[in-house]
Amino acid sequence: MEKDIQILILDLGSQYTQIIRRSLRYLGFHSAIVHPEKSLEWIGKNRPKGIILSGGRAGVYDADAPKVPKKLLDLNIPILGICFGMQWLAYVHDKNTIHRVKEGKSYGPVEVNFDKKKSKLFQGLGEKIQAWASHGDSVRSVPEGFAVTATSSLGNVIEAIECEKKKLWGVEFHPEVQETEDENIILNNFVSSICGCGQDYSKGDAIKEIRENTKRELGDGTAIIGVSGGVDSTTLSAILAPALGSKLKSFMIDTGGMRKGEIEKVREIAKNAGINLEVIDKYKEKFITEIGKTIDAEEKRSAFRRVYGEVFKEVAKSYKSTHMLQGTLATDLIESASGGESALIKTHHNVDLDLGLKEIMPLSDYFKFEVREFAHKFGLDELVSKRQPFPGPGLYLRIVGVPVTEELLEVVREADAEVAGILKKHNLYDKISQTIVALLGVKSVGVKGDGRVYGYSLVVRTVETNDFMTVKGFYLSKKVCEEIISALSRHSQIVRVFFDFTPKPPATTEFE
Ligand code: XMP
Repeated sequence: MEKDIQILILDLGSQYTQIIRRSLRYLGFHSAIVHPEKSLEWIGKNRPKGIILSGGRAGVYDADAPKVPKKLLDLNIPILGICFGMQWLAYVHDKNTIHRVKEGKSYGPVEVNFDKKKSKLFQGLGEKIQAWASHGDSVRSVPEGFAVTATSSLGNVIEAIECEKKKLWGVEFHPEVQETEDENIILNNFVSSICGCGQDYSKGDAIKEIRENTKRELGDGTAIIGVSGGVDSTTLSAILAPALGSKLKSFMIDTGGMRKGEIEKVREIAKNAGINLEVIDKYKEKFITEIGKTIDAEEKRSAFRRVYGEVFKEVAKSYKSTHMLQGTLATDLIESASGGESALIKTHHNVDLDLGLKEIMPLSDYFKFEVREFAHKFGLDELVSKRQPFPGPGLYLRIVGVPVTEELLEVVREADAEVAGILKKHNLYDKISQTIVALLGVKSVGVKGDGRVYGYSLVVRTVETNDFMTVKGFYLSKKVCEEIISALSRHSQIVRVFFDFTPKPPATTEFE
């Protein structure tokens, strides 16, 4: 398998290392990420056509700078150094080339101007591009035999160097990230024109690879996977169900806080995707009792986490499996990374469930958009990827100010379904990023039938956003509001309906 890999990426500690690999996959090329100390051994076995040195956190002068073997320079294999990688290429030829900054990093967009005599690396690009920079030190002068092929106007930073004779190329900015507006042309030029690689990767390969790698890691063992109905775990289960057969147990814990019809929907998704899903619902009461002991949002969240952990452990034990599959993605690992080689990053990332099972993370090389593409391949997109998000602790969060009971859960569950139905009828549901229906536990006066009653209120919150870091209210028309009020106030315990279009900040998306 590894014999076919044409591009070697040396992981020198950059948070973007996985993104280099993803960009190469996007361009149709396999690559492997290897720790610098293992690189020569790997090259001996695999004979790659090109080497990419990633960026890194340390500077070349630092004691903890990654140890890139100098022998790489003698192999006659083209090398592209990115950020730290480029600085190392300069430094290893001439120690006086690096400008050390004491304070402040160049971080953010820069305008990169290419030299008139356009380098092979930049063929197909105009005179300049917007690129993403993230560095402290920089290359101040080039070693003998090297040429400067790009600079940025701000502070005259050398943005690219090369020594074509020695097959060495370097860029200070990051061509692998989307913010660099080169449409991946730079990486493609390096891999295709400079290294002479032919495309060797297609989406089908990814599925095959995920299956083969998981089978290999699992060996004679058996695995469990908790399916939430979300895109990552469901897609992973769909990918692996046919490959692992009875060696994989997919299960879902019904926490009692799901939306109306959700369990049935996940069952249907699972069935269509060929997943043999077991739904475990005998712990619902335990969840309600434990979470119902407090009205504090954070305490509810932590009670949910604790009970979920205990239940998960019990279920896992009952299957007597050896391994647990996790739908962890590359972004999760990057975000929790404290730097260094990829293998090292993985050990930092743990879910807090000490199950005594070995963990396998088959999607840890992949990004959300890739997983969505896999989901599409398995016919899961309608049901999985396009659904509005829903918090793990579910409806438990949406009962505010009074203890959660089964009855109140039922009120919000019904109300949520009614509101969704009305929004769908008006073709609004898909335009809204998230709809939240929450019960306000403060009683106020109302009139029901012939008498005054004191009842709860419901809050309907509709928001739009791209990333949920900030949200804007999605304003509903008078007609839609009236229809919602009429539907929700039919319940004997509900006397008022409020609408909440407050942006985040100052509010959050959830109403908890
Ligand atoms: P906030 O309220 O922080 O929510 O603006 C942002 C997005 O995250 C969802 N959310 C959660 N999702 N487990 C989840 O899986 C959780 O505990 C959780 N809390 C909030 C929220 O629904 C919104 O889409």
